[in-house]
Amino acid sequence: MSIATDFNQRLELYQQRVNRALDTCLPDKPTPKHNLIEAIRYSVIGGGGKRIRPAMVYAAGEAMSVAIEHLDTPACAVEMIHAYSLIHDDLPAMDNDDLRRGQPTCHRRFDEATAILAGDALQAHAFEIMAANDWEVDGKRQLEMITLLATASGSDGMAGGQAIDLASVGKPLTLEELEAMHRLKTGALIRASILLGAMCSASATDEELELLGKYADCIGLSFQIQDDILDVVGDTETLGKPKGSDEAQQKPTYPSILGLDASRKLALEQHEQALGHLESLDARADTLRQLSAYIVERDY
Ligand code: IPE
Ligand code: IPE
Ligand code: MG
Ligand code: MG
Ligand code: MG
Repeated sequence: MSIATDFNQRLELYQQRVNRALDTCLPDKPTPKHNLIEAIRYSVIGGGGKRIRPAMVYAAGEAMSVAIEHLDTPACAVEMIHAYSLIHDDLPAMDNDDLRRGQPTCHRRFDEATAILAGDALQAHAFEIMAANDWEVDGKRQLEMITLLATASGSDGMAGGQAIDLASVGKPLTLEELEAMHRLKTGALIRASILLGAMCSASATDEELELLGKYADCIGLSFQIQDDILDVVGDTETLGKPKGSDEAQQKPTYPSILGLDASRKLALEQHEQALGHLESLDARADTLRQLSAYIVERDY
């Protein structure tokens, strides 16, 4: 079996698993008074999504021999934070996009207030499930994991990166500034996804966590570089979101600053570095290795 087939089957298994878990843990009792619950479920399960952050949780846990059923909680939590970030990212006040995961964005399907609230609620639900007392990590480790996810989501993480993104529209950024922005807006949650999976193992060593953190930083950057590249070379139907959105809004991106070829080269360099950080890990880390390749090869 080729590596790509092997990985695609693994990714599908993770996707099915997290989809079932999300379906169970998302609120599901719509009320005639408002459509918040409908908007939440529409955005998280209505339109697909690669589920790459849950896949990172599962693959990192697998590398540390954690049983898959003990990884569902952080897998769902990172996808909820991600879905919230996408709903808000698409709002008129941010990227003003109409299409997400092949369907109208949450504020287009419902309305802006409902989209804001769906994002708010998803963020809260993510922490609610992380704080619940029904999974196999000890209390101290659980608190560390909750703090890690909070920091990755807040002003020192995703939200802070989004603020830089918005403040940089139409302004020239240096390569260092661009990298710093990408590390926060996308890299922070990817790093958290890898570390949360690994931290479900009571026996993961500090050295292993450090190496996985370095690996995660590389794939976080290559992920957003590839996202920027696909905004230029992808097509709207395959992407499920509008091609050319970055250019239309004068967003600072890798292709706009470096050009396409140099951006591709940089993404591949990050992939190589990511593999280097996994060198001392055994075959249980193979899915992580394949995941890094998938990130720079994907077409959506
Ligand atoms: C898109 O993320 C937003 C970025 C952080 C670049 P994904 O490409 O993971 O989007 P989905 O979840 O597959 O829709
Ligand atoms: C968004 O980056 C990163 C988030 C934190 C949501 P983009 O604005 O490039 O994501 P897309 O291209 O709309 O998915
Ligand atoms: Mg954006
Ligand atoms: Mg966007
Ligand atoms: Mg983008």
